[in-house]
Amino acid sequence: MLQKLWAKLLLVALLLPVAARADEGMWLPLYVKRLNYADMQKKGLQLTADEIYDINNASLKDAIVQLGGFCTGEFVSSQGLMLTNHHCGYDALQSHSTPENNILEKGFFATTKSEEKTNPGLFVDILVRMEDVTGKVLEGITPQTLEVERTVLIQKRQKELADAAKENGQYVAYVRDFFAGNEYYMFVYQRFGDVRLVGAPPEAIGKFGGDTDNWEWPRHTGDFSMFRVYADKNNKPTAGPQADNVPYVPKKHLSVSLQGVSEGDFAMVFGFPGRTQRFLPAAGLQLTLDQSNPARIKLRDTRLKLWKEDSDANPAIRLKYASKYANIANYWKYYIGQNEGMKRLKTVDQKKAEEASLMQWIAADATRGQNYGSALNDINQAYAGLREYNLSSVYVNEAAYGTEIVAFAAKMAPLYNLFKDPKADKAAVQKAAAELKEAAEEHFKDYNAPTDKKVFVALLQLYATDVPKAQLPDVFQTVQKQYGGSMSKYADYVFANSFLTSKAKTDAFLAAPTLAKLEVDPAFKTWNSVYTNYSQNIVPKIQGYQATLARANRAYVAALRAKNADKVYSPDANSTLRLSYGTVRDYSPRDAVDYKFYTTAQGILDKEDPTNPEFVVPTKENELLRAKDYGRFADKDGTLHVAFTTDNDITGGNSGSPVINGRGELIGIAFDGNWEAMTGDLAYDKDLKRCINVDIRYVLWCVEKLGGAKALVDEMTIVNNGPNPGVGPQNGGSALNQLGDVDKMKVKTDDGQKTKVKKKKGKEKEEAAAGM
Ligand code: ARG
Repeated sequence: MLQKLWAKLLLVALLLPVAARADEGMWLPLYVKRLNYADMQKKGLQLTADEIYDINNASLKDAIVQLGGFCTGEFVSSQGLMLTNHHCGYDALQSHSTPENNILEKGFFATTKSEEKTNPGLFVDILVRMEDVTGKVLEGITPQTLEVERTVLIQKRQKELADAAKENGQYVAYVRDFFAGNEYYMFVYQRFGDVRLVGAPPEAIGKFGGDTDNWEWPRHTGDFSMFRVYADKNNKPTAGPQADNVPYVPKKHLSVSLQGVSEGDFAMVFGFPGRTQRFLPAAGLQLTLDQSNPARIKLRDTRLKLWKEDSDANPAIRLKYASKYANIANYWKYYIGQNEGMKRLKTVDQKKAEEASLMQWIAADATRGQNYGSALNDINQAYAGLREYNLSSVYVNEAAYGTEIVAFAAKMAPLYNLFKDPKADKAAVQKAAAELKEAAEEHFKDYNAPTDKKVFVALLQLYATDVPKAQLPDVFQTVQKQYGGSMSKYADYVFANSFLTSKAKTDAFLAAPTLAKLEVDPAFKTWNSVYTNYSQNIVPKIQGYQATLARANRAYVAALRAKNADKVYSPDANSTLRLSYGTVRDYSPRDAVDYKFYTTAQGILDKEDPTNPEFVVPTKENELLRAKDYGRFADKDGTLHVAFTTDNDITGGNSGSPVINGRGELIGIAFDGNWEAMTGDLAYDKDLKRCINVDIRYVLWCVEKLGGAKALVDEMTIVNNGPNPGVGPQNGGSALNQLGDVDKMKVKTDDGQKTKVKKKKGKEKEEAAAGM
């Protein structure tokens, strides 16, 4: 029987279209027609390529926004109503919360537009167009051009192109590099500065499972929030909130499907993935694995423990630190998962093998040798050099700037530079001071000096011990000589004497700022010492290696693409609009374990733990779920589906991205990646990588049933157009003969039983953790 099975598998494998599998790729919408369209159709897409991306007519891209530069959102009504993740709206939710009216905790839905809450500083960017400008940027540049000259020339051209595209401030425009500087694209956006908070469920739903469940499946988080974009009466963007603004009418908004998802349904994620480094060489991976990540984890661990201690003791402090804590904790766990994954999947070894085979290919031909011959050697040498200074960078970022008072002192730099500049006039100083006054307002709203003092002691102590002595800033000598090496005595002095510990003192300084006062401030002096040392002694070394790396990486990536000329590489994510497509899909995280592709409300009740803040279920939700009161949001199986997995390739920044079915309707909101594929930003694993999405029906249930905000749901275009297009069993085809993933597909054996064939066996998570 087994032999028969393999014969079948082989046959199926041979019949498969090569491209029809879970594949890496966050694609530029500009090229979807050419590169991906046929494959997308095979997976179930029914839209035309122009319905996805068109710069002349309304297309899906007009329904997608980049939110605040760090997340994605999508329009779901003709009145600018926008959905994103809860964790993307977290900061806004926190800023509108007080201990007396804590909407972060209670949840909030505006019942009228006048209740919607403005968020100065928050904006959305809507893409107008993107353009390949490689030819213009690289014109006249040859392999002989010196790297410094090249950099200066390219920066100048990038700026010129962007400036021209801005059309006197009408648009936001920038040029980004792709494939390690082998290609350049320009992006032109409209920026809307009036983005109002419309609603979100209680934190216990929006962040259900907290840091325990974060980055993991199975998941039961209602990770969504709602905003509304406002424009002036001509539907044009305004720089900030304005009282007479009206809801923006988007060119396109997404219909919302009540159909629910099945395995094999086509799924497309459209959004703004932040950053991947999938071309990172083995030496770079190694540095991340054994130096950067362990340091980041240790420093964040220290900071989080101290923040948590004080937050647990005092709800007001908890509220102040909630958003900061969530951000730092999110990537703390990310670094842990990334390192575990790199060890388990032997990512460095895989990359080394790829490099060895590339070197062979280069060595086989003299011209290749000329063009790319020194790339890998240069890369390895540059990393060997970087390795000596890398910890300094990590500790400046995570230890020095991880201390809030030092990071805030850094904001005084522009003022300091003006004082030092003989040509600067009074007006410039006043302007800088006014800007700092605003920054101080923001900073002190969420600041608790005693907490920060503890962090200061702990993090700077680690800085002093962990970084090579010769690279330390002078301030540590001061601590040694004047404070007997006691960081806590030094902190007593800094916090007792700096004006940067309170808003009142900072305001008093800013009312009549002088160089004399700034220069002697001990927190400012601490920052100045760290910064001066870093910029004078460390950065020049790092920059030297980075210049070598830039050139060598460019050659390396060019060689790789030349070697595999028939493979279409997707560019690394760089916060520009991308589309990734795939199917609704389950996975097998490790030997003997199969995960379903969806979770239900039952799982919320199963996870409930009133004694653990991460797993509290709000009373009303508990009642409704126990009564199985799901209304029209129930699945055809009678349960309420909460989240589902797809094999879309995404990364951070995609948070809040719409998951769209083959008809272009919204079926979910992407909000996370899975633990087994945490190496995804450095190396893609096609067996394990999944995208975790909240089911749109759970979102609507939370708004209408739980939040009582039916009007918001009524504003949307709700559709129920029958089964989603796709390649699942319900579509006639079986997942087997379409997905083509022979390693772990479901097959029907002769006796009709479903079984799974797996090639890879993941080790237990705990095992990998023990080796960290
Ligand atoms: N891991 C998610 C992401 O980076 C963020 C989840 C936020 N939730 C949390 N518990 N910290 O997109």
